[in-house]
Amino acid sequence: MPVDIGAGQARRTRRGPLSRVMPKIARDPVNGLAEIGMRAGGEVVRLKLGLFRPYLVTHPDHVQHVLRGNWTNYTRQGMFWRPLNRLLGAGILGDGPSWESSRKILQALFTAKYIASLAGVVAKTVDERVAELEEHARSGSPVDAAHEMAAIVNQSTVRVLFGDRISRRDSERLMSAYHTADAAVTFRLLMPFMPYSLRMPGDRAFMDAVGAVDDVVFPVIRQAKERPGTGEGLDVVSALCRARGPGGEERDDRQIRDDLVSVYAAASETTATTLTWLWPDLDAHPEVAARLYAEIDRVVGTGPVLPSHVPELRYTKMVLQEVMRLHPAGWLFPRMAVRDEIVGGVRVRAGSMVLISPYATHRLEEFWDRPLEFDPERFSPDDQRRRHRYAYFPFGGGAHQCLGQHLFYMDAPLMVASIVSRFRPALLGRGPFTPAPTALLRPRGKVELRLLPVEYAARGSR
Ligand code: HEM
Repeated sequence: MPVDIGAGQARRTRRGPLSRVMPKIARDPVNGLAEIGMRAGGEVVRLKLGLFRPYLVTHPDHVQHVLRGNWTNYTRQGMFWRPLNRLLGAGILGDGPSWESSRKILQALFTAKYIASLAGVVAKTVDERVAELEEHARSGSPVDAAHEMAAIVNQSTVRVLFGDRISRRDSERLMSAYHTADAAVTFRLLMPFMPYSLRMPGDRAFMDAVGAVDDVVFPVIRQAKERPGTGEGLDVVSALCRARGPGGEERDDRQIRDDLVSVYAAASETTATTLTWLWPDLDAHPEVAARLYAEIDRVVGTGPVLPSHVPELRYTKMVLQEVMRLHPAGWLFPRMAVRDEIVGGVRVRAGSMVLISPYATHRLEEFWDRPLEFDPERFSPDDQRRRHRYAYFPFGGGAHQCLGQHLFYMDAPLMVASIVSRFRPALLGRGPFTPAPTALLRPRGKVELRLLPVEYAARGSR
């Protein structure tokens, strides 16, 4: 299939090498798109995928324009978002007035101060859940990293969102319903142009999963309204029930549900996926792993891990930043252009899709030295200052910038430190771990780990 690239005012059409990557898009959409971005050297590319002709925007200046400079011209609407709307509703992950009202409420809530007030309880929750892995270390049975990371993140996210208002059983039901919904929506995401009057594989499972999520979430909202929490470290559901809409009115259960369900979706799978990629990256770079282990041994010792350890885990943070450069969980976020305009010399037509992909931008040679190499040193404080703000944007940017960064940079180091203070995870199997074509960037194959207790691993390495 041919690919048009508009470059400069001339709007040349290049075929040649670019057309060769199209079969790859079908086989491996994530790397196929990144390759197109790399070959175009950051120019705006128009893809011709049959009737579907989106623009791929990778240059940091252009990304900044779409996400920030003229963001009102690029809405989160259109066929890519539609399949997810049935789960997420019209809250913080939508657009327009309902998004605006949710954004005001949640932005005021997710401050560094608020997250710090939850840190103690999150650290304890994480430590207790990680301790459950001891059994695998004793028996030597392998663990499925994606599953275990999701379970740890789930416990912590549920604690932040719902406090002690839901049972362990319900929190696990929630996790498994999201997982089903995520897998079941793949067909719709890959074929967004298919009409909803046609039943597609996964539709039924998706709607059942949405029902299961609602069965857990609505009763919690009703309970939080009847018995509101008070004081420091208030759970998110209590805070949302207290918040008022733009005219000072009480928000109805559906609005609160949409925000809770969206924040859970935005927070849990993204963090879990990032932590899943960490282990293959450490396995492939033993020198990075050794430095990370040494830092955690020095700061945390044999644990338990505490919130006060987090600011000292500087190298751990750099490693996580590099994991998110090469494997940004939100690898693609589409927008729909409202009006015609020129971006990077190319006319972007009203009504067409614009694809923004941190995965592609994070691999541009024009902005990164040795972009395909894993090197956490890039995130040492001096190097970061020299970078274009939109050369690295795993958390997006502009009006829809992620609200969870404070939470992620507290939660994720606590989890890594809690795991590493107990175990040395050893990867079973060698990959290669290529990305699966799902809404979030997951490894295609299973990432299996054997957990060696720290004392045992230390003896082995002597
Ligand atoms: C590795 C972890 C995470 C990654 C990679 C990530 C990434 C992103 C990205 C790329 C966006 C922008 C989407 C867009 O522009 O369309 C976003 C938005 C958002 N994120 Fe995160 N996120 C992470 C963790 C979290 C956490 C822990 C929370 C919990 C509060 C969270 C809450 C949100 C919310 C509420 C939005 C929507 C903001 C808006 O549209 O106004 N995220 N995230």
